[in-house]
Amino acid sequence: MQDNADLLALVRTIPDFPKPGIQFRDITTLIHNGWGLRTAIDRMATASAPYQPTLVAGIEARGFIFGAGIAHQLGLGFVPVRKSKKLPGAVIGIDYELEYGVDRLEIHNDVLGPDDRVLIIDDLIATGGTATATVNLIRMAGAKVSAACFLVDLPDLGGTDRLRAQEVPVETLLVFE
Ligand code: PRP
Ligand code: HPA
Repeated sequence: MQDNADLLALVRTIPDFPKPGIQFRDITTLIHNGWGLRTAIDRMATASAPYQPTLVAGIEARGFIFGAGIAHQLGLGFVPVRKSKKLPGAVIGIDYELEYGVDRLEIHNDVLGPDDRVLIIDDLIATGGTATATVNLIRMAGAKVSAACFLVDLPDLGGTDRLRAQEVPVETLLVFE
């Protein structure tokens, strides 16, 4: 098991953002550091490779930063999972619940098929609502989810348990209890 204390030290914690009582784990300090960005992508790619994905799906917006690098590293194509009304072609979409209200994620409707084993990438998993919606979207499109990999896990919010309950293998590098 890799000791990621070196990477963990590059994540900044901002108290009371976006509202009082929340300790916001800010990865912009990690990606500002050249070694940090490269090492995070390298370690996420190494953790994900054994699941033998055929495509990488990155979740808007911070999932694009890591997902594109991991796709490059593994020699795979990249599928952007976008918020509503951003993609120009025909899409399939799924609504998902936020703490207040609903949001929607979309992919182009011609990018996934039954032979695809999709690796889901995001910067962080909290409640798992965003990642669960992405799993459902990929399965609606007829493809398989090979695994999901996140740089940061907030396990108290239950997201990784929720994903594993859907039979998705989950890898995370940095855990903030
Ligand atoms: C954050 C984060 C994940 C999601 C995790 O994105 O980058 O995508 O929340 O939360 P969850 O596990 O409770 O769903 P956000 O929705 O803030 O969007 P952004 O990346 O566009 O800022
Ligand atoms: N940091 C970044 N994104 C987040 C967080 C956090 O602490 N919680 C939910 N999304």
